[in-house]
Amino acid sequence: MTETNHVWRLRKRPVGDITDDVLSLEQESIPEPTDGECLFRLNYLSLDPTNRIWMSDMDQYMSPVAINDPMRGLVCGTVIKSKNDLYKEGDIVSGLGTWADYQIGTPETVSPMADTGSVSVMDAFATLALVGPTAYFGLLDITHPQAGETVVVSTAAGAVGSIVGQIAKIKGCHVVGLTSTDEKCQWITKELGFDKAINYKTEDLPAALKQACPNGIDVYFDNVGGEILDACLKLMNLNGRISTCGLISQYTATGEVAGPKNYAMILMQRLKVQGFIILDYHDRYPEAITAISQWMAEGKIKVKLEVVDGLENASKTLKKLYTGANTGKLMMRVKDV
Ligand SMILES: NC(=O)c1ccc[n+]([C@@H]2O[C@H](COP(=O)([O-])OP(=O)(O)OC[C@H]3O[C@@H](n4cnc5c(N)ncnc54)[C@H](OP(=O)(O)O)[C@@H]3O)[C@@H](O)[C@H]2O)c1
Repeated sequence: MTETNHVWRLRKRPVGDITDDVLSLEQESIPEPTDGECLFRLNYLSLDPTNRIWMSDMDQYMSPVAINDPMRGLVCGTVIKSKNDLYKEGDIVSGLGTWADYQIGTPETVSPMADTGSVSVMDAFATLALVGPTAYFGLLDITHPQAGETVVVSTAAGAVGSIVGQIAKIKGCHVVGLTSTDEKCQWITKELGFDKAINYKTEDLPAALKQACPNGIDVYFDNVGGEILDACLKLMNLNGRISTCGLISQYTATGEVAGPKNYAMILMQRLKVQGFIILDYHDRYPEAITAISQWMAEGKIKVKLEVVDGLENASKTLKKLYTGANTGKLMMRVKDV
């Protein structure tokens, strides 16, 4: 094989925003699989807020990427050589890999993808590999929303948030989405069926929340932490539930992060606040995939992908997640299946 491998390596830990010297794109040789491994070519790379966590040495749920190692990512690729009966040449695999054209897969890192039927491999990977199950279990398993209850979700026009809101609508809830632009507000109310949308950047958030949630908040699906969490805490109803899915307002913070000012509401309103990491639900993935696929086929869940071509654009594209420049799921397309 004469082709070159392009590999993004982590060169330093970011402080605040991801600067151009954090990752470097190298030309390297293509690795050879040894017994038990396969070699696959990258088709799609999922860009996720957690990439910024893995680059840092903050307290986290996996080990951080080591300095000078290839950047870690959720990947989907095509097997081109195999030394393991689990993989055949031409199989599509997905799982945890790196930001590289060619990479080694093992049973611990990647699995063959199930047949995606009439759905394209990219659509299936983008929606079902991570964000769909995150929305499904993070909402249903942790907060048990009931018909008629009020559910508020932050990053409501993003990959996870847009699906959370639509599942809450399927469950008969009054759904309020928080996001940063009027266009995103229009999309979630007019196209996705949210009852209300609040532009948290231009509106007075506590007042707008009070108006959008006249009966208070029963469930808050938290993707951001910080001031938005505080504003929601203030309106939580008795026995309310908060699913702590993400804290994106803090991922690029420098220095100490302030705790919630309205922490007392957890006691006064007997709230349940629970964090989760989707990896813990791995064994139950089929349940989420079946439900979400069915709702998508019935038109009850709509998804939007924001697709950028070319692995060389991965570093600058990732930054979109931390400025709100994406709508829906942010994906890199390296080579279509
Ligand atoms: N627990 C888990 O296992 C798990 C799994 C997947 C994802 N997550 C978490 O879920 C959240 C959403 O992830 P996603 O993949 O769906 O990303 P996403 O929502 O598609 O993209 C990130 C969004 O975050 C918002 N944002 C960025 N900086 C912000 C800030 N300073 N304050 C408030 N909002 C900010 C922006 O939306 P706006 O325009 O609305 O501001 C941006 O579009 C993240 O916190 C992520 O870490 C957790």
